[in-house]
Amino acid sequence: MAKRPTCVKVGVDLQPLNTLAIAAQADYFARVSNVEDLREVLLWQREASLSLLLLGGGSNLVLRGDWHGLVLQFRDTAVSVVERDGDDVLVRAGAGVVWHDLVLHCSAQGWHGLENLALIPGSVGAAPMQNIGAYGVELESLVESLDVVELSSGKAAQLSREQCQFGYRDSIFKTQAAGKYLITAVTLRLSSYFCPVLNYPALRDALPSENPSPQQVIDTVVAVRQSKLPDPAELPNAGSFFKNPVVSSALVDRLLEQYPDMPHYPAAAGQQKLAAAWLIDRAGWRGKGLGPVAMHDKQALVLTNPSGANGAQVLALADKVAQDVAARFGVALEIEPQCVGGGHG
Ligand code: EPU
Repeated sequence: MAKRPTCVKVGVDLQPLNTLAIAAQADYFARVSNVEDLREVLLWQREASLSLLLLGGGSNLVLRGDWHGLVLQFRDTAVSVVERDGDDVLVRAGAGVVWHDLVLHCSAQGWHGLENLALIPGSVGAAPMQNIGAYGVELESLVESLDVVELSSGKAAQLSREQCQFGYRDSIFKTQAAGKYLITAVTLRLSSYFCPVLNYPALRDALPSENPSPQQVIDTVVAVRQSKLPDPAELPNAGSFFKNPVVSSALVDRLLEQYPDMPHYPAAAGQQKLAAAWLIDRAGWRGKGLGPVAMHDKQALVLTNPSGANGAQVLALADKVAQDVAARFGVALEIEPQCVGGGHG
C-alpha cells in the first residue's frame, strides 16, 4: 500500500471551501498544482479505496454532509497563448485560475469573447462542468478543447468541444462521464477583434453606448450582477440554485392565460424555457426563508445561507420551494449545483 502523500491533510473543514458556507468536514484533503503530484495522490486514493470529490472554487456545490473520503483541488494557474490563427487567439488556462481573473486578464491583453461572463464565481476547471453562461454567452461557444486526466488510470487526454456534449448548464462531466475525469486546463478560442454580444435586454439597457468597449461591457456586467446577485464573501450562496426549466409549449400557453406577464424564452421545437426566478418569486418565496436559510430578496433564484447552516437545512428549503412551484404552476424545478456527500456522494 502506497504511503499517504505529504500534501494530503487529515480532517479538513470544508466550510471556507464552499461558497454556500455549508458546515462539513472532509476525512482527507489535498491541493496539487501539477499532473505528477496529481497522479501520486490518485494512486494513493485508489489503493486506499477512498471516494473522491473534485473541488474547484466550491461555488456550485451543496454538501449534504461530511465527505468520508478525499477532497481534491487542482490548482494549476498558468495562462498562455498556444496559437494565433488570423484574428483568433487560442488561450490555454490552468484549471486553478479564478474565472473572473481570466476574464479580466484576457480582455486586457486584447483577447476577446469572455466579457459577458465577468464576475461568475468559481475556477476555470469547474466552468465547463456546468457550461457557465450569462448575458447571452455560454462557455461552450468559446471552448476549443479541454485537457483532462482520467481518474481511474491517471492518463492525460484532450477532449474536443463536441466530446464535451455541452447543453444548458450541462456537459458530459455531469452525465456519462461524471466522476471519470479531472479537468486540468481549458483552451479557449478568443478573438483579437471585439464583437460585443448585446442580445440580453438587461445588459443592453444598462450599457452606456450601443457600441461599447470591452471594458464597458465588463464594467456593466459586473454592475448588473452586483445589483442582483449577492457576493458569496458577504452572503454565502451558490448563484442560481435551480435551472431555468424547459417545458412544453402547450403548458406555457395554458400558464400564459392565467399569468400573461410570465417570462418565457424559445427552446427546442415544441418547448420553451421559463424563468425559475419568476416562478419562485410568484410562489411567494423571494426574500422568504425556512429556518436559517432564505431565497434572496433581490434575486429569488439565489438561495442564501447567512449563518452556516448544514446541507439538510439548505435542501429542506429547496424542496419546499420546488414543491410550491410544482403545486402552483405544474413545473418541476431541478437543482443546479452539484449535491454531494452525506452518504449519498
Ligand atoms: N425575475 C423575477 N424575480 C426575481 C428575479 C428575476 O421575477 O426575483 C424575473 C426577471 O424579471 C426576468 C426573469 O425572471 O424576467 C429572469 O431573470 P434574470 O434575467 O435575472 O436571469 P435568470 O434567468 O434568473 C440566468 C442565469 C444566471 C445568469 C443570468 C444572466 C440560470 C439558472 N441562471 O438567471 O446564472 O447570471 O441569467 O444571464 O440560467 C448561475 O447560473 O448561477 C447564474 C447566476
